[in-house]
Amino acid sequence: MKFHKKTIRDVPLEGTTVLLRADYNVPLAEDGSVKDDFRIRASLPTVKALLKKGCKVVIVSHLGRPEGRDESLTIEPAAQRLAELLGEPIRFVDQTVGNKVKMAIKRAPKRSVVVLENLRFHAEEEANDEAFARQLASDTGAKYFVQDGFGVVHRDHASTAAITLCIPSVAGLLLEKEYVSIVKAMRHPERPLVAVTGGAKVSDKIQVVKELVEKADSVLVGGAMANTFLAGLGQSVGASKYEAGQAEVVKDIVTLAGKRSAELGVDLSEFLELPSDVAVAKSVDDKHVENMPVDAVTEHDMILDIGTVTAEHFARTIANAKTIIWNGTMGFAEKEVFSHGSAAVARAMTQNASAESIVGGGDTADFAIHWDTKNGDSFSHISTGGGASLELMAGETLPGIEHLLDA
Ligand code: ADP
Ligand code: 3PG
Ligand code: MG
Repeated sequence: MKFHKKTIRDVPLEGTTVLLRADYNVPLAEDGSVKDDFRIRASLPTVKALLKKGCKVVIVSHLGRPEGRDESLTIEPAAQRLAELLGEPIRFVDQTVGNKVKMAIKRAPKRSVVVLENLRFHAEEEANDEAFARQLASDTGAKYFVQDGFGVVHRDHASTAAITLCIPSVAGLLLEKEYVSIVKAMRHPERPLVAVTGGAKVSDKIQVVKELVEKADSVLVGGAMANTFLAGLGQSVGASKYEAGQAEVVKDIVTLAGKRSAELGVDLSEFLELPSDVAVAKSVDDKHVENMPVDAVTEHDMILDIGTVTAEHFARTIANAKTIIWNGTMGFAEKEVFSHGSAAVARAMTQNASAESIVGGGDTADFAIHWDTKNGDSFSHISTGGGASLELMAGETLPGIEHLLDA
C-alpha cells in the first residue's frame, strides 16, 4: 500500500531548519520523570533521519491538557529522555515562541536538536490559531514542517492544521508507518475481523465503537466501556466506574448490532459480546477479588475486570479471527489482580499467529508492551495513537494527515 502524502524522503531537507511535531504526551511518574517512553522511542527514526540530513531539528509537542502555563506539565523531562535515547545533548527552551526561541535556534549548530516548551501552554494551539502557527514558523525559521505526532493527528490544532498553511508540510516516518500498518489491515481486512474495545475514555470512543459495529464481524466490550453498556441496558453496576448519560448511544449501538448480527446470521450475543461475568472488589486497592455473574453485582461492588468465563469467550472469538484490533484495557490493568482479562486478550491475540493483530491506546499499548516478553513484537503493530488510531481503524480521515502535501 502506498502512502498518499509526501514524506521526509520526498523534499530537499538537507541542511535546513525543520519544525518537527512529535507526540511526547507521555505518562509522568510522581517525581515528574517519564514513566513510559514508548512514544519518544517511536520518534527516533525520524529524528535520526533528519540529523543525518544535517538539519536543525526543532521539536514541538503537547503534554497533558494544561490551561495556560503549568510547570508540572513542562515538556523538559521528555526532552531529557530524548537526549538519553539519542545519546547526545539536545537544547531545551522553556518557551514555545518568542525571542528566546529565535536566539536558541540561531545559536544551535547544524545537525542538532532543539526542543521547545509544551505547545498547550498557549491556548492558541488548541484554538487552531493561524497567527500562532505563523509565529511558530517564523520564530523557528523552519523551511519545512514535519508531522510525526501520530497520536494527535485526529485533532484540528495549530500544530496539526494551521501550521500547514504557513510552511510546506510533509509526514515523518512514524506517521507513515502508523498509517500504512493500520489502513492496510483495515481497508480490506481479512475476516473475521474482531474489534476488542474497553478502557475508560467512553465518551471519546463510543461513537467509534458504533462505527466498528458496522465494520467488524464481532465486537467484544470490556473495561469501564462495558460497565457503561451494562448500566445503559438497565443492569446495576454498583460502585463501578461508568459514564452516565450514554444510555441512548448504548441502545442505538445494540439496535445496530442486532441488525448486523441478523445480516451475519449469528446471535446478537455472539456478535456484540458483553461480559456475562466480572471480577469485583470493594476498591481498586482491595486484594480480595471475587468472580461473579453480572447480575450478582451489588451496590458496593466495583467491577474492575471481565470475569473468567467472559475472558475465555473473548479468547475463543479472537482465536478464530484473521484480523484483531484492540483499544482499551479490559479492566483496571494497572493492578495485576485486575489485569487477567487484558492478559487473556493479549495472549489470544499473540497466539493467533496467522492473524493481523493491532493494538492502540496509551494505556492499552503500555499494558501490551509490558505483558509481552518480546516488548510488543509479538503483535503485528502497536500504535502510539489512542483516539487517532481508533478513528483511523474505523475508517475516518484525520485532519493532521489530510492537510499534508499530496504525494
Ligand atoms: P487507552 O489509554 O488505551 O486509550 P483508556 O484511557 O480509554 O485507554 O482506558 C484505560 C484506563 O481505563 C486505564 O487507566 C484503566 O485502569 C481504566 N479502566 C478500564 N477498565 C476499568 C474498570 N472496570 N474500572 C475502572 N477503570 C477501568
Ligand atoms: C493522546 O494521548 O491520545 C494524544 O496525545 C492526544 O491527546 P489529547 O487527547 O489530549 O488531545
Ligand atoms: Mg488512556
